Amino acid sequence: MSENSQVGVGSPDAQVSSKRGIHGTWPSRWTFVLAATGSAVGLGNIWKFPYIVGENGGGAFVLVYLVCILVVGMPIMVAEIMLGRRGRHSPINTMRYLTKEAGLHGGWNAIGWLGVTAGLMILSYYAVIAGWALHYIGHMASGTFQGVSAEQAGIIFGDLLADTNTLIFWQSVFLLLTMGVVMGGVTKGLGVAVRVLMPLLFVLLLVLLVFGYQQGDFARGFSFLFSFNIEALTWKGVLIALGHAFFTLSLGMGAIMAYGAYMPDHARIGRTVIAVGFLDTLVALVAGLAIFPIVFANPTIAPSAGPGLMFVSLPVAFGNMSGGLLFGSIFFVLVTLAAWSSAISLIEPAVAYLVESKGFNRFTANLLLGFIVWLVGLGSVLSFNVWAEARIAGFNFFEFMDFLTSSVMLPLTGLFIAIFVGWIMKPQAVREEMNDEPSSVFFVWRWVVRYLSPLAVLVVFVMGIYKTFS
Ligand code: PHE
Repeated sequence: MSENSQVGVGSPDAQVSSKRGIHGTWPSRWTFVLAATGSAVGLGNIWKFPYIVGENGGGAFVLVYLVCILVVGMPIMVAEIMLGRRGRHSPINTMRYLTKEAGLHGGWNAIGWLGVTAGLMILSYYAVIAGWALHYIGHMASGTFQGVSAEQAGIIFGDLLADTNTLIFWQSVFLLLTMGVVMGGVTKGLGVAVRVLMPLLFVLLLVLLVFGYQQGDFARGFSFLFSFNIEALTWKGVLIALGHAFFTLSLGMGAIMAYGAYMPDHARIGRTVIAVGFLDTLVALVAGLAIFPIVFANPTIAPSAGPGLMFVSLPVAFGNMSGGLLFGSIFFVLVTLAAWSSAISLIEPAVAYLVESKGFNRFTANLLLGFIVWLVGLGSVLSFNVWAEARIAGFNFFEFMDFLTSSVMLPLTGLFIAIFVGWIMKPQAVREEMNDEPSSVFFVWRWVVRYLSPLAVLVVFVMGIYKTFS
């Protein structure tokens, strides 16, 4: 049975006092791996990772990012899944149940609220960017980029950003697609789609990699990504790397906690997380290796071009290779699908909460949340044109939403999760949930979550914020 096929209504207290969730469980650990990978692999890997690497000087940033994935991201992913599976509800009610179970102050519920709010805020701009990808499918297919130069590709992209109505149209289409799936339930639709499409996405990225290798400046692209140039690294950059580790693994906002709530009882969490973390990192690195050789071969594209990087450099590649129009359209279809399987996990926690506690059904919950997200998203649409000069704390609206969520809310929620699991929850409860792990794995993980992850997040967060604003 799909985990979302039932609609449950009830008082929060009645709900949280039972350990069984109302949404059901994934049929197997693999379905969880697929769903979590679908959530993790998205615009963060293909669109965001390359451009933040470009903006933050390359190799040293990549190294810091990889360290953050290992030391902070994967251990906290284990913690989130574990919490979700123990609570078996939406992140908000899961945290309610767990704080109650441990006899703790209700303030710990903030973890759930912060996460759910961050998810909706991310979705507001995520839908705008995914809308660009949707728009590019048609452009690719109709030959707009045939034989295009980097300069022309830049102009075409600039024209899109200036066109408010088109941006709003595609943003709305993407949000409707997302709501449609979450209304119907996740496993059958997306679970199956992800299994077929993720491998295809990977193959196409490899095709682009080969193109970059043959036609681009591969050596420069490679050394930009992997040579360690410490001078290019700033505290702000380190904070962005940390925030991105959370973003790309879908952590600190309840998505993985919500998915963990649907996980079978005896599935080993550690292995699962290694699989998801590995696939996610691989897609990001291959995307970088596909994009930067093309960037360096075209002097009109700067590696620090920002959010438009992928939308300028890849069309140049596609427009100038044989079969590129076909590959190009397929590629943007896949980017859209990757974004789609992530977007559903951005809205699912809030939907699950409204269904559990507020008497909504999935349909109305999606309508309400979708509308709010759409409205907030208009701010991001306008920040690319009409409001381009408006500033909040030095950022435009889109940058502000991104900074606030990725660099502030996700790391903070992650920090609270590490502290909660490492220091607050009863050790037996933690061990019980992890009892399929060998004790050495459990020991190392618990140590990392108690000491290393919180310390790393704290230092990077404080220094990053301080340096960003000083
Ligand atoms: N991980 C997704 C990506 O990299 C984005 C995301 C963030 C999805 C947080 C869910 C939760 O694109």
